[in-house]
Amino acid sequence: MTEVGASLLDRLAALEEQGLVAIRAAGDSDALETARVDYLGRNGRLADAMGAIGTVEAKARREVGQRANAVKTALLAALEDETRRLSDAEAAGKGPRLDTTLPARRSWVGGLHPVTRVIDEIAEIFQDLGFTRVEGPEIETTWYNFTALNIPLDHPAADMMDTFYLHDDVVLRTHTSPMQARVMEAHEPPVRVLVPGLAYRRDSFDPSHAPAFEQIEGLAVDEGIDFIEFRSSIQHFVKQFFGKDTRSRFRPSYYPFTEPSAEVDVSCTVCSGSGCPTCKRTGWITIMGSGMVDPAVFEAVGIDPERYTGYAFGMGPARIAMVRHGIPDMRLLYEGELDFLEQMA
Ligand code: DAH
Repeated sequence: MTEVGASLLDRLAALEEQGLVAIRAAGDSDALETARVDYLGRNGRLADAMGAIGTVEAKARREVGQRANAVKTALLAALEDETRRLSDAEAAGKGPRLDTTLPARRSWVGGLHPVTRVIDEIAEIFQDLGFTRVEGPEIETTWYNFTALNIPLDHPAADMMDTFYLHDDVVLRTHTSPMQARVMEAHEPPVRVLVPGLAYRRDSFDPSHAPAFEQIEGLAVDEGIDFIEFRSSIQHFVKQFFGKDTRSRFRPSYYPFTEPSAEVDVSCTVCSGSGCPTCKRTGWITIMGSGMVDPAVFEAVGIDPERYTGYAFGMGPARIAMVRHGIPDMRLLYEGELDFLEQMA
């Protein structure tokens, strides 16, 4: 074989190899057409190489010509394959080439915030006792937030220090209790509602306070509800939520909207009552304020206190979540740190 013939064979081999790569890597029909024109077009690389066959010595020309034809056949076959493959993929809606070498994306599984889970669990337990879950406005009038609940506007709780005022008589609710008045105004007893929602206070953001925090209000009003029913409902809740071995106690307390009032403590779920940092070594954890609805509240909303009685309670689910998970600082619950929250998922 002469030098010209040998180098033309090398050129055809390279052209075949590169042409096959260009066709198979095209990925879409535009790129495939570009590859076709480059290699098989009238002025393409194969036509160019074939044009050079005339310069090869006569005795080698046949072999080189056959090789050129074989390259053409191989490229045409690859082109046909690739055209079919692309149109199949496009028809299947998969678009162009699937790059199986791309690293997979991390898949995220969403989860509910620990405070949300506490709220949902509490609501479920009270739903079994006949309570309906309702919500109310966070922007509230001083009448619902204070006056209707028997809190005079000069009471410390109504003081500017604790309350975010939006106007003279409009506030960000400082608790969920105003929904007691709203529900009783709108519905004749019997009433049993559970009201989760945000409350706002001018508190500093510290290990045990947040200026915006969840509360859950409960209210039951009917004929003949007495302290025994109140107490046994709360005790039932405590056993359901904290476990059947958890003890509870009612400590006399004062709230303007309940009479008598009680704070409910549960035996510390961390140390079972022997004393630990979570219960500040007392063995008990306070979980709610509560009491029998004060007749003054019934009067404010037009319900006959001679006919109806009821009980109410208010809880802080963030505090309960802290006890449940042994969280030392409330701010951790509100910072949205996924690494922290995922530990409780
Ligand atoms: N509203 C009270 C607070 O934010 C909590 C509370 C106490 C609600 C006693 C009640 C109750 O319904 O009876 O501190």
